Amino acid sequence: MSKNFYVTTPIYYVNAEPHIGHAYSTILADFVFRFYTMLGYDSYFQTGTDEHGDKIAVAAHANNTSPQEYTDRISRKFNQTWKDMKIANSDFIRTSEKRHIKVVQEILQKVYDKGDIYFGSYGGYYCVGCERFLTEKEIVDNKCPEHNKEPEYIEEKNYFFKMGKYQDWLLDHINKNPEFIRPERYKNEVISLLKNDALEDLCISRPKSRLEWGITLPFDENYVTYVWFDALINYISGIGYPDNEKFNKYWPAAEHIIAKDILKPHGIFWPTMLRSAEIEPYQHLNVHGYWNMDETKMSKSLGNVVTPLELTGKFGNDEVRYFFLREMTFGLDAKFSEDVIIDRINYDLANDLGNLVKRTFNMVEKYFNGNIPEFNSGQPADRENVTSLLKKSADEYIKHCSNFQSSIGIEKLWEFIRYLNKYIDENKPWQEAKENNTEKLSSIMRNLLESIYSISVLLSPIFIEKSDKIISALNAEGKSRQIDDLYKFDILDTGGKLSDIGILFPRIEKDKDKDKTQIKDERKSKNKQAEPKKNNEENAGLVDISDFGKIDIRVAQILKAEIVEGSDKLLELEIDSGLDIRTIIAGIALHYKPDYLINKKILLVANLKPATIFKRKSNGMLLAAREKGSDKLHLVEVNEDIPVGAKLG
Ligand code: MSP
Repeated sequence: MSKNFYVTTPIYYVNAEPHIGHAYSTILADFVFRFYTMLGYDSYFQTGTDEHGDKIAVAAHANNTSPQEYTDRISRKFNQTWKDMKIANSDFIRTSEKRHIKVVQEILQKVYDKGDIYFGSYGGYYCVGCERFLTEKEIVDNKCPEHNKEPEYIEEKNYFFKMGKYQDWLLDHINKNPEFIRPERYKNEVISLLKNDALEDLCISRPKSRLEWGITLPFDENYVTYVWFDALINYISGIGYPDNEKFNKYWPAAEHIIAKDILKPHGIFWPTMLRSAEIEPYQHLNVHGYWNMDETKMSKSLGNVVTPLELTGKFGNDEVRYFFLREMTFGLDAKFSEDVIIDRINYDLANDLGNLVKRTFNMVEKYFNGNIPEFNSGQPADRENVTSLLKKSADEYIKHCSNFQSSIGIEKLWEFIRYLNKYIDENKPWQEAKENNTEKLSSIMRNLLESIYSISVLLSPIFIEKSDKIISALNAEGKSRQIDDLYKFDILDTGGKLSDIGILFPRIEKDKDKDKTQIKDERKSKNKQAEPKKNNEENAGLVDISDFGKIDIRVAQILKAEIVEGSDKLLELEIDSGLDIRTIIAGIALHYKPDYLINKKILLVANLKPATIFKRKSNGMLLAAREKGSDKLHLVEVNEDIPVGAKLG
């Protein structure tokens, strides 16, 4: 494979404003662009807008503007949305631009001169939504299943591209290059279209008497070019076909990203057009599924469209990128729901990654005054073990993401992140600190810090801002980001000062709970009016779930325990709450010996107002149960496997 990489999104129709379906394809393209750049490829990324055809002419008319004014407006919206989402496209092509029109006409002329375009007459069922004639098999119950509309019967004289001539070649090409269309299910779909029926020639013109908004055919000015024949050419016009340096560099290294809705034009029209124009076929067609809202497709007409900026405004840009890339298994449909976004943020980002970084930074602050400790040569095995686990996870991450399988790749890297949290629990740095075992402690912390650096680099194609934030808090801006260097664990400067990392991924409370609560409250207040007395009695002593939700109870680990001097009941405990390392004063000295408590996982009320007890600050409270009729206290202990910081609720 060449060291050049060229990724494209579909160019979006300007008859609708950007929605999250468009955003997904664009985020995925942006991710693989940044990813291949990270791997050292010379990469290029193009997106844009598709501006000709019936659909756009109709939309412009409905908006009382000219097609050009209308397309200018919506195209600008797409462009701006991608800028706001920090999409790093190298170019943005519009099919109404001169540079594109010129190339479309050149290709048409070339194919025409070759004898692959002829004039004929055709009658068929046309779906304006698909902007193409449907075959009999594609029409279900007289309707286009994709757009749920009856196609229109159109009969007129037109120009045709001899697509059928290239059927055998295409079948052969796909068989010889099994990854040409991927994942396999879409390759099989195209193969079955090619195997089962003779490929019909493609009508590539529209008479101007019916549609003026398009590119005039170079060999007949009474006709404009059919919008798909025009649009597909963007992939080469944008990089300066035929002789621009960019074209020579990036074609045929092209990786097209599309959803399954436009498989036929990309899997059949486009390669045969390229073949006829004597241009090499693209590298891969990467086909993803649909994002569905509650099992239905997202569409303007169904009124369930979510705009990408609404989403990033609510959850954060990096968070939304992570959700899309992690949640959709490439090739399959996925369900879009804000609940799932919140779960991904709370579990994967706040609990796993955020916690790991926070705990590590807190411990380096506490045990080394925030200075990066050195490895100790007495601990080589441990270091080798961690680096080899990192390499194993990273290799898998790179392998899958290189094939656009971002969800599988991310999961592989997350295995390492989860391992690091366990590494802390098992190595118990606080124990080493207590025993003044500084050499071992510094090696543990250095392993963690180097791991965090490597993870941040590997995740930088996903987290545009957060990765840099971690790297800069590690005082490691400008350090090598070469993949091979990440496994050496000698990137950071010994003695370098860590800066405050803050909260990387704040946890999010679910609105749904609030809604439920509100519904409950309303019901209750209605009852109250009807039967005020009884209801009051029944509810005496009960709290609303919203009140309970205010209490932040989470799993914490006891790091240190000492008797408070001058008191026989109190213990001073140092604990890791997952948020920070803090001190609490607990009245359990009569029931538990300090040694017994070390490393125990307990439940902590983390958001209790700090109090001063016996002249010491107590920042929180642990949960213990008192036996009925006795003073005996039982600490609520938590299973070892539940990670520190996990919230009760
Ligand atoms: N203009 C054509 C493409 C021409 S490319 C030479 C077109 N435009 S479109 O605006 O309808 O965009 C379709 C594409 O948007 C899909 O292929 C997919 O990339 C993206 N998506 C639109 N809705 C989507 C979902 N609900 N889910 C996932 N992707 C979706 O077709």
